[in-house]
Amino acid sequence: METKLVSVDNFLDNKMNYEQAVDILKNGGVVAFPTETVYGLGALATDELAVQRIFEAKGRPSDNPLIVHIGNKEQVSDYAEAITEDADKLMDACWPGPLTLVFHKKPGVIASNVTPGFETVGIRMPDHPVALALLRALGQPLAAPSANRSGKPSPTEAAHVYKDLEGLIPLILDGGQTGVGVESTVLDMTTNPPTILRPGGTTQETIESIIGKIHSENEFPGEQAPRSPGMKYLHYAPEAPLFIIQNDAQHIGIALDSLHAEGRKVALIAPDEFGDLGADWYFSTGPAHNNEATATNLYAAIRKCDATEADIILAVETDLAGVGAAVMNRLMKAAEGKRYMN
Ligand code: TXA
Ligand code: MG
Repeated sequence: METKLVSVDNFLDNKMNYEQAVDILKNGGVVAFPTETVYGLGALATDELAVQRIFEAKGRPSDNPLIVHIGNKEQVSDYAEAITEDADKLMDACWPGPLTLVFHKKPGVIASNVTPGFETVGIRMPDHPVALALLRALGQPLAAPSANRSGKPSPTEAAHVYKDLEGLIPLILDGGQTGVGVESTVLDMTTNPPTILRPGGTTQETIESIIGKIHSENEFPGEQAPRSPGMKYLHYAPEAPLFIIQNDAQHIGIALDSLHAEGRKVALIAPDEFGDLGADWYFSTGPAHNNEATATNLYAAIRKCDATEADIILAVETDLAGVGAAVMNRLMKAAEGKRYMN
C-alpha cells in the first residue's frame, strides 16, 4: 500500500485533503492525524473491521482498549452512560484538551473491539484544529491510539508516523509538530473519587482544582498491577538501554567520564544547560526546569537516540510538578525503572 503524506497547515486550502480522509474513513480505512498530544491513528469507532485495521497496522495486542475521539461534547451521551456532575465540570473546563474520561459504556454502539471485554469506554475531545476539523467533517467518532508501531515512542511529528507505518496505512495528515508531546491523562470516572490511570497532558493539579481530591494509581513499573491495560505493555522502549539520571551537571559529568573510560558511547537527553558536558550525542529537551518543554521534546529525543550508535542513553529526570508526573511516568517506562548511579 502506498502511504500518502499530505500537509494540512492553516494557510493551505485543505478541503480536498479532508475530503480524502473522510472518504477513506467512511469506507472502513485508517488515517493518521495530529492531535495536541501525539499523532493518532483513527478508524470509525462504530466499525469493527475498520478498528481491526488499527490493530494490524500498529502490531498492537488486541486486548488493549482504544480511546474514542469526538468533535463536540454533546456526542458523549451517545456512547457513555451515568455521566456524573464532576464529569460535566471536567468536560466544560478541560475539553477540548488532553483529558480522556473513562465512563460506563452504552451497550451496542461502539464496536466491541474498541474496548475488548470492558464495560467502560474512554472518550476525549482533542484540542487540535486538524483533529477537530476531521472529526467535524466526518460527524462520527474515531477510535484512535497513538500512531506508532507498538513498542515505539508515540509520534510527535508526521515523519515519525511515516517511519513506523509507511506501507501499512493509506494517509497521514501532516499538521506539524504536536504541542503537548505526551499523551492525554486517562481519568476513570467510574470510581469515587475518580482515579488517574495514566498521567498525561492535563495535570492532577488542574483536575483537583475543578473537582477536588482524586486518586492517582502508582504506575511505576513492578509496583502494582495496572488497571489501564496499556500500562502492562513495554512502551516507549528505545533500542539502547536508557537510564534516568539526576539533574546535576557534576553527577552527569562523572557518569560520562566513567562510561567513556569503559569505551561506551553515550547519548544524553537533557535540558539546554547540559549540552556541553561532552556526551557523544546530545538531544535537548529545551530550557532548564521547564516540564512542559521536556514533555514536548521527549519522544522526538528518544527517537533520535535510535538513529545513533549509542550503547547507552542517559535521560535527565524532572520533578513531578504539573506535566512532570507524565514525563517521569514515560521515562520510568522507557528506562524499565533503571536509574544511573555513579
Ligand atoms: O493523547 C492520547 O491519548 C493519544 C491521542 C492519539 O489521542 N492516544 C493514545 O492512545 O495515547 P493509546 O491507545 O496509545 O493509549 C490509550 C490508553 C491505554 O493505556 C489504554 O489502556 C487506556 O488508554 N484506556 C483506553 N480505554 C480505556 C478504558 N475503557 N479503561 C481503562 N483504560 C483505558
Ligand atoms: Mg500509545
